[in-house]
Amino acid sequence: MKRGHAESPSSSDLPSSSRVKLNPEGDSQFLEDDDNTKNFAREVADHYSRRTNQTLQEREASPIIHLKKLNNWIKSVLIQLYARRDDAVLDLACGKGGDLTKWDKARIGYYVGIDIAEGSIEDCRTRYNGDADHRQRRKNFPARLLCGDCFEIELDKILEDDGPFDICSCQFALHYSWTTETRARRALANVSALLRPGGIFIGTMPDANVIIKKLRQAEGLEIGNSVYGIRFGEEYSQKKFKGRSPFGIKYVFHLEDAVDCPEWIVPFHVFKSLAEEYDLELVLVKNSHEFVHEYMSKPEFGELMRKLGALGDVNQGQSTISADEWEAAYLYLSFVLRKRGESDGAGRRSVQRNKKGKMNISKDDILYISNEV
Ligand SMILES: C[S@@+](CC[C@H](N)C(=O)[O-])C[C@H]1O[C@@H](n2cnc3c(N)ncnc32)[C@H](O)[C@@H]1O
Repeated sequence: MKRGHAESPSSSDLPSSSRVKLNPEGDSQFLEDDDNTKNFAREVADHYSRRTNQTLQEREASPIIHLKKLNNWIKSVLIQLYARRDDAVLDLACGKGGDLTKWDKARIGYYVGIDIAEGSIEDCRTRYNGDADHRQRRKNFPARLLCGDCFEIELDKILEDDGPFDICSCQFALHYSWTTETRARRALANVSALLRPGGIFIGTMPDANVIIKKLRQAEGLEIGNSVYGIRFGEEYSQKKFKGRSPFGIKYVFHLEDAVDCPEWIVPFHVFKSLAEEYDLELVLVKNSHEFVHEYMSKPEFGELMRKLGALGDVNQGQSTISADEWEAAYLYLSFVLRKRGESDGAGRRSVQRNKKGKMNISKDDILYISNEV
């Protein structure tokens, strides 16, 4: 099993923000097909909405159970590293609320979750209330849930009274914003507008360098193994990305028992420079393999890995991640950005601020936002 972080291809192989002129107003007039973008967003939403909550037995029987546990460990480490007691948290593309327990352990003071998939938000609601299954306990922080496209809506207007937030998290989802420059900018504008100065943006997303390197090594336009598959369209038959717009580079992603929908390449150096325009400075970026090696050696995180059982010791008869799952883990990276400026202490006022948060969320409490807002 390959555990090291193989050499990354040069970022000059990917579209560069210095070569491809970014347009601060967005590229809507000449690049994007608005209907197409909306259709893709709906396709992604419908895909995730259809995925119902799995029972414990179904989860354990999944062919990617160790990969799921590994990804949960990575998210837990990010949360434990950056969340502080009483923090106000904005979870963009929160899904079914898979991170609620992690935030609870960090003893946060307030949580706002938003996702485009109606089915996922409903699952998130029941999980938050503690009645999704018998293992879930009621959470100790007030929360609000919203259903809408967080890469399209001006969230700062909707969440004016909820912010500023101490932490924003976007796990395994930011690449869905990279369909057009306008959406990528909206995602970053939302994060920047809602974070307090000194606030932290944590996330995970596909590692474009790894995907492009694998594509170039493959014979055709498909890469993958028994647990994942990535297919690029014929327009990329030259496998050249220089000089192209760094937005809208689509592929179809399949992850056994988890994902089957279009996704978009996020050239990290473009993401980094775009984020800087929104006062978000890079603190950390690590491919998942490197992340595992670095944080596994810290006793508290090593212990958490043992508890989760993602990387069991086969010599002691424990199950462990398969080579194919480990290769799929290599497709992702984690990042941390920090909003410029010094905190004035106003960010950690969760107790007074959370007028809209509830300790039990009813169906009617979920705010459904259309893109026209
Ligand atoms: C792989 S799941 C990750 C869910 C969650 N963050 C986690 O780590 O468990 C990706 C999520 O992104 C959501 N998503 C995709 N596009 C979105 C958008 N434009 N606005 C809000 N959520 C979106 C999907 O509905 C899905 O729940």
